[in-house]
Amino acid sequence: MNALTLLRPDDWHLHLRDGEAMRSVLGFTAARFGRAVVMPNLKPPVTTTDQARAYRERILAALPPGCGFEPLMTLYLTDNTPPAEVDRAAASGFVCGFKLYPAGATTHSDAGVTDPRRCDAVLERMAELGVVLQVHGEVTDPAVDVFDRELAFIERHLSGLVARFPTLKVVFEHITTRHAVDFVRGSRAGVAATLTPQHLLLNRNALFEGGLRPHHYCLPVLKRERDREALLGAATSGDPRFFLGTDSAPHERGSKEAACGCAGIFSAPAGIEFYAEAFEEAGALHQLEGFASLHGADFYGLPRNRDRITLVREDWTMPATLPLADGSIVPFRAGGLLRWRLAPAGAA
Ligand code: DOR
Ligand code: ZN
Repeated sequence: MNALTLLRPDDWHLHLRDGEAMRSVLGFTAARFGRAVVMPNLKPPVTTTDQARAYRERILAALPPGCGFEPLMTLYLTDNTPPAEVDRAAASGFVCGFKLYPAGATTHSDAGVTDPRRCDAVLERMAELGVVLQVHGEVTDPAVDVFDRELAFIERHLSGLVARFPTLKVVFEHITTRHAVDFVRGSRAGVAATLTPQHLLLNRNALFEGGLRPHHYCLPVLKRERDREALLGAATSGDPRFFLGTDSAPHERGSKEAACGCAGIFSAPAGIEFYAEAFEEAGALHQLEGFASLHGADFYGLPRNRDRITLVREDWTMPATLPLADGSIVPFRAGGLLRWRLAPAGAA
């Protein structure tokens, strides 16, 4: 197979940042994806529908004229989010969910939730109104080994939460372990998961390949090979509970190549191409369209995209760096070869 045409995919988990940085990265996503779920972990975080409306307007204003890309906004859940915010979000027409960051778990998560039970009234209202909960599933307890934090989150918080709110739609974001795959597979209806390209393509050895590799550092951190295999198995199985979310997370080069480097992998410049490579490795290119273009829209209750993209089998080299505002950024696979290339619009 030398060309692959898909219904246009969506990215169900994306960091766009704001201002100049957002303007530097947005085009990569808008060229590939019809929609993206935009994460709210700005500084300060996007906690209200009004803030999300203004952020959405800034994103739309940064798109080239005629571009049909649609940002789907999320609100950042805090210990103090009032249930009435759920009503405002649901009425807005542009907020698709609330993101639960355990306080301190990752980039810009200091204002996150200290205990999910504090949000029970909000979660109740979300379940009533059909608003999706997106979960960063890691405990922050420093006594828990960093590689076990996802499993501990399932055991301590997520399984209880899913049971307490039997109609709440929950997306377990960027899952990284076979435990998370098993949890989703064994869950009630309305529980799904996103999978990133890096967790499908790399295991934790990539963090230390010939030296410390900050551009492979993200959260949740890469796991073992057997976890990667379980994730790839889930992604390529055709099970509609698993769908695409790149978690592309731009950080300026200097803040990654540092004594205390930021977490995040910038995959947007080949946001669909990386998945094609992973699916091909698994002999499952025929499952890519479901994972990338159908399952997420169906889960969120949104229409599927109607236009198509084409990927062609053609080697190309990812640039070593790309511009980011007035600095630079090192993308995923920087300086390395990619096997699939997005055909220019109209060329297919
Ligand atoms: O690696 C990550 N980067 N994981 C997250 O959860 C947040 C993200 C970011 O915002 O940089
Ligand atoms: Zn993220």
